[in-house]
Amino acid sequence: MSDCKNVLIFGATGLVGRHIIQQILKGKNAFDRIAIFTSSDTVNSKSEEIAILKDQGVEVLVGNITDENDVKKAYQGVDTVISAVGRNMIEHQVELIRLADQTPNIHRFFPSEYGTDIEHGPESSGEKPHQRKLKVRASIRSCKNLDYTFLVTGPYADGDPVLYLSPNHGATVTGSFDVRTKTAVLLGSGDLKIAFTTMADVGKLLLAALTYPDVSRNKALKVKSFTTTDADLLEEFEKQTGGEKWKVSYTSIEELKRLEKEAWEMANPLATVITLRRIWATGGTLYDKWDNEAIGSPAVQSLAEAVAAAIDVQLHGERELKRKLV
Ligand SMILES: NC(=O)c1ccc[n+]([C@@H]2O[C@H](COP(=O)([O-])OP(=O)(O)OC[C@H]3O[C@@H](n4cnc5c(N)ncnc54)[C@H](OP(=O)(O)O)[C@@H]3O)[C@@H](O)[C@H]2O)c1
Repeated sequence: MSDCKNVLIFGATGLVGRHIIQQILKGKNAFDRIAIFTSSDTVNSKSEEIAILKDQGVEVLVGNITDENDVKKAYQGVDTVISAVGRNMIEHQVELIRLADQTPNIHRFFPSEYGTDIEHGPESSGEKPHQRKLKVRASIRSCKNLDYTFLVTGPYADGDPVLYLSPNHGATVTGSFDVRTKTAVLLGSGDLKIAFTTMADVGKLLLAALTYPDVSRNKALKVKSFTTTDADLLEEFEKQTGGEKWKVSYTSIEELKRLEKEAWEMANPLATVITLRRIWATGGTLYDKWDNEAIGSPAVQSLAEAVAAAIDVQLHGERELKRKLV
């Protein structure tokens, strides 16, 4: 068995990367080394966040992710690479994977997945938002020396902008929970089941995958916080915001598909999100089996906890970030 004890993280100050590094730090006794690779731009623009990470024992390696020498240098002494790069850098992971495969000390790579299973069914291979992640999966499977784990989480049950428990400003018709105005837009009739993971749990479940390297080796590891429906989410939002009924409207799946088609035709940047919402609402997150138990059943958040956190984020937003990081 090869342990995952010397980890290097790409994208550690990004939306989900922040949660991943925080959870890894909570389990830091299990690691010999925790390093992040980031850019000088990030070091300057997020100096306070970087300083907090350093205080917590994180090694901060600064370089250009597209510079082969910078990456090779950062790979020294690392056995596991965790990528949480954003969608704009997904395809560049093919290069990061090639270099990792050539680095004898690296044996495991977690590419930036953290979404629905992109190989869920026959139709998955044709979904536009999956194409670059599918290329990354193919590149890692062709490696000679590298094992992988694809952490499959479904949509995030969080209230940060654009996420499922947010007002989804600018695209409310594709689903919305707005705490300030007490309005919601539900998909279908509100009774469609979706399996969610909160971002904190993405970090926690990734930590568990690292501590069960045999179980998580060379597989799409399917994890979740909970399965629920829009109607149950709404009921919880109403309960936690004073009990008053919210103003609710519905978007049928047919309408969602029409909006999706229109968005792709118009090259609307929201097209990816609309397609993902259609996939989530039509069974794309419902698997035969989840792997939480196989990686030690880490305690995950409940629907009530996720809604409470989403209300907090919607009302207080970024101001909460510092408190969470400290
Ligand atoms: N399931 C869901 O609901 C959901 C929602 C959103 C995203 N996701 C998935 O989660 C993964 C991460 O997405 P995210 O939204 O967390 O990413 P993000 O915040 O957009 O970006 C993450 C990090 O990528 C790095 N990065 C981006 N552009 C770069 C560049 N040009 N050069 C160098 N580094 C660059 C940065 O790293 P530094 O921190 O080092 O600067 C950045 O913080 C993706 O695979 C995405 O598809 C899933």
